[in-house]
Amino acid sequence: MTDLLSKNERFMTTLTDFMPGMVGYWTKELRSAFANREYLNWFGKNAEEMKGIRMQDLLGEALFSKNEPFIWAALEGRVQEFERTLTKTNGETRETLTHYIPHLEGNEVRGFFVLILDITERKQLEAALVAVAEERQRALGQELHDNLGQQIAAMGYQARALEKKILASGDADSAKIAASIAAQAQHAVMQCKQLAQGLLPFELESNGLLGALQEFSSRVSNTYGVTCHFVCQYEAVVDGGNLALNLYRIAQEAVNNAIRHGGAKHLTISLALEKGCLCLSICDDGCGFAADAKQTASAGMGIKIMQYRANQFGATLQFLLRAEGGTEVRVEMRES
Ligand SMILES: Nc1ncnc2c1ncn2[C@@H]1O[C@H](COP(=O)(O)OP(=O)(O)OP(=O)(O)O)[C@@H](O)[C@H]1O
Ligand SMILES: [Mg+2]
Repeated sequence: MTDLLSKNERFMTTLTDFMPGMVGYWTKELRSAFANREYLNWFGKNAEEMKGIRMQDLLGEALFSKNEPFIWAALEGRVQEFERTLTKTNGETRETLTHYIPHLEGNEVRGFFVLILDITERKQLEAALVAVAEERQRALGQELHDNLGQQIAAMGYQARALEKKILASGDADSAKIAASIAAQAQHAVMQCKQLAQGLLPFELESNGLLGALQEFSSRVSNTYGVTCHFVCQYEAVVDGGNLALNLYRIAQEAVNNAIRHGGAKHLTISLALEKGCLCLSICDDGCGFAADAKQTASAGMGIKIMQYRANQFGATLQFLLRAEGGTEVRVEMRES
């Protein structure tokens, strides 16, 4: 029997040593019962040092208390999945995806398995993709505003001048055509400006997040024939370009989804400070949609990018069905 057990243990060690990630097992007393080679390397320990070590001692108090909610949930029998930036004992930081899988015998939780994957490269790629998309939008917005928009505006001025000349020559019908060209050019300039503003939120730099969201909601009302209000119960300035830009982009995507998919007619964007949390909420009165952002399998990119942006600053993203109908997209971020 002992021989069989040790054979099994050797097999498990060999198997997990070849796995591309950290594999471990923690008892319900939070003592290590198993750790594969990768796990040992990560924490700079050998198998003897690891065996029976307390989780608090291995992780340190700070990381342990951050992980505690997931630990207790796993010990209640619930599978846990979360991302963490971890610092190795050699000082190197890596992005990780951790799974806690409860070990159940009947109804009793005996401990939990841990699987930690290093997702640093994936996170870097995600960040690069979003940065490229952001840069493309910026370049396109600038081009529309500074180049195409200016050219169409010049054509409009020339059409106006032509209209005056033709009128002076007494050809009222031709003057009407010139006037119509001028009016269409003016309309096209407005559209260029609006597109450029969507792609390149100038107001973020000049007026900060509050001004930009205010401006955005009036633009939505004017462009889509819906009502879009901005309510702000948060006076502090949200600067730190990236945070403001990410929140702004999340609001943009949520509003676009509400109008395109939900058929919403009334929208409210609000920014508030609730129980120490900065909360951005976008409510719509559309057909309603609730999802776990992390598990939504959709062909679209919008929700995935929203989730990525929320992760960037450690915020949670939720899609909630509103009691009165419609959807609330809610981003909550604990103030540091
Ligand atoms: N406010 C909403 N009301 C109703 N349905 C929604 C709402 N938000 C999202 N959805 C649903 O979720 C799906 C996924 O949204 P997501 O933004 O990820 O993709 P998309 O809008 O279809 O494409 P993309 O954003 O890439 O242009 C949508 O296709 C829609 O079915
Ligand atoms: Mg979308």
